[in-house]
Amino acid sequence: MRNLTLLILAAGKGTRLKSNLPKVLHRLAGKPLIEYVVEAARPLGPSATCVVVGYEAGQVQRALSHLPLQFAVQEPQLGTGHAVQIASSFWQPNRGNLLVLSGDVPLISTETLQQMLCEHTQSAASATLLSTKLDNPARYGRVVRGPRGDVERIVEHKDATAEELRLDEINTGIYCFAVSDLAQVVGQLSAENSQREYYLTDCIGLLKKQNKRVSAVICKDPVEVGGMNSRVELAELERIVRQKKLEQLMLDGVTVIDPASTYVEPGVQVGADTVLYPNVFLEKASVIGARCQIYPNVRISASTLEDGVVVLDSCLISESRVRTGSQVGPFAHLKNHTVVGRQARIGNFVEIKNSQIGDNTKAAHLSYLGDAEIGQDVNVGAGTITCNYDGFTKSKTIVEDGVFVGSDSQLIAPVTVHRGAYIAAGSTIEQDVPEEALAIARSHQVNKEHWARKKRESRRKD
Ligand code: UD1
Ligand code: CA
Repeated sequence: MRNLTLLILAAGKGTRLKSNLPKVLHRLAGKPLIEYVVEAARPLGPSATCVVVGYEAGQVQRALSHLPLQFAVQEPQLGTGHAVQIASSFWQPNRGNLLVLSGDVPLISTETLQQMLCEHTQSAASATLLSTKLDNPARYGRVVRGPRGDVERIVEHKDATAEELRLDEINTGIYCFAVSDLAQVVGQLSAENSQREYYLTDCIGLLKKQNKRVSAVICKDPVEVGGMNSRVELAELERIVRQKKLEQLMLDGVTVIDPASTYVEPGVQVGADTVLYPNVFLEKASVIGARCQIYPNVRISASTLEDGVVVLDSCLISESRVRTGSQVGPFAHLKNHTVVGRQARIGNFVEIKNSQIGDNTKAAHLSYLGDAEIGQDVNVGAGTITCNYDGFTKSKTIVEDGVFVGSDSQLIAPVTVHRGAYIAAGSTIEQDVPEEALAIARSHQVNKEHWARKKRESRRKD
């Protein structure tokens, strides 16, 4: 639509959430509610978007600073009509249309908004509202229609008569207004109602009184326009978002063994023939390749797994990459830009931080590798530790291709173990090891013959 501006109402506290966090910043499948609204409206190509903030305004603005938005601060919050009034310097100079959205209605789809704008243009309406029909209209404002079925006004449930309360068509709080017509009525709102608030909804009745045209589009799927007013509703929205994502993944060829206990955020990608076991969490735009297997109790966040990766039970992988055909876990922890090469094996109780692990390398048991660069075909023995921190600075450990690190070795960084070297088990390595050398850094073993037997005999005599 040409010359469309967007106003997102988000000043409310959300009293029923009993939270210090502003309502629109509560996270739904990992993302603040209001970001869903911004994303749904983006394809409509608005010339500008303004968010009305109020409760914890600064916090909301900071949380959204990465998006191209303007803000209007509403303080105090005297109702949805008042919110639109205080933002008038944003929308009034535009000659086109204003789309008003609620920051707490996150599942609204681009298609529904498009349908509504289409109806608004075609019927040359002053205002078009989005309504829906509910079996239990509860606390929503009711759409009151005249004898010929035209929208007459909206009545808030707290102001409604018993007869009006029986109406099942409700106001979703999403509207499109012709700016020039809205400008004429928004100043006429009064707060003479049960909530002592300026209701934006009253603009509909006011426009009708001026014989302006009001249209309505009935949203067929009430799920889209369900608001979030309590944590019970938040959990319900979470369930809907999750189920939708999992259904899409399954249709795209991913096996989800138990959708009820699998958590995949909407921005995550998963390739075909990957299997997700129960209690898997995939977060923050992670990318999972094809033919991967992710076993129970694994969380993967902001990470990439290439094709054919196996993650065994109970691993945490964050901000890392695991390349094709590697196996991780059980109980492994990869973090801070770790890259595990192809066909590598990272076994149980191995923590890897900010390190590169080469192709075909194995660290199969109980290790800590931090700030390390480990080459290809390296064997990192059980219990190997990079001592990367001296209490002041972090230093680097370099282990070149083909090195064998014996079990229970400590590599005191900064240190380099050159190509093909061999480190004897139990060594504390503090100097660089040359190519193909054996480094052995542990005390020699002494066997004292018959010592144990003599000891026991002397004990018995005492
Ligand atoms: C509003 C509608 C109601 C509709 C319902 C749909 C009014 C008077 N009523 O009711 O008809 O069925 O939405 O969800 O509009 N907000 C502000 N400033 C304020 C008050 C609210 O920015 O002073 C924002 C809130 O943050 C929220 C949105 O406006 O994002 C809706 O406010 P809310 O208080 O939830 O309105 P409802 O009472 O639910
Ligand atoms: Ca609401």
